[in-house]
Amino acid sequence: MGLFTKDIKTMNDLFVHQLQDIYYAEQQLTKALPKMADKATDPQLKQGFLTHLEETRQHVARLEEVFKMHGATVKAVDCPAIDGIIEEADETAGEVADKAVLDAALINAAQAAEHYEIVRYGSLIAWAKQLGRSDCAAVLAKTLEEEKATDKKLTSLAESKVNMRAAS
Ligand SMILES: [Fe+2]
Ligand SMILES: [Fe+2]
Repeated sequence: MGLFTKDIKTMNDLFVHQLQDIYYAEQQLTKALPKMADKATDPQLKQGFLTHLEETRQHVARLEEVFKMHGATVKAVDCPAIDGIIEEADETAGEVADKAVLDAALINAAQAAEHYEIVRYGSLIAWAKQLGRSDCAAVLAKTLEEEKATDKKLTSLAESKVNMRAAS
């Protein structure tokens, strides 16, 4: 189902659809993060991916909680956007031979995923509030904070050492 099909009539429909979309994305990320951790050379980057993997499992559980709070079926719908981001990360990783350059590429790929999540959670939180579901918004906000923190950690890893090593 495309985003703007006639199956989505109300803001509530849109809210539930985007919950299903990000639920799929989080599930795909729980599969992608261990692979990224495997490929990473810098120990802090490797550990960062593993830490975020644990958080991502929590994100999946929180979404299940929100579905239930909202009285909606726990369901995932295909999200071609995250599939594309993960696919591109795989392809790029396959093409980068130098390990230090690969770390820089992995950070870039991971940040693309984080930014995607930040956008989706930002709207979900705003819509939840609009729909009178501050309870759902509060649960989603915990996840959004972790996505933002992860994004910041990735930036500081890149700027403090990974980019410099990749360029040398
Ligand atoms: Fe997440
Ligand atoms: Fe994330």
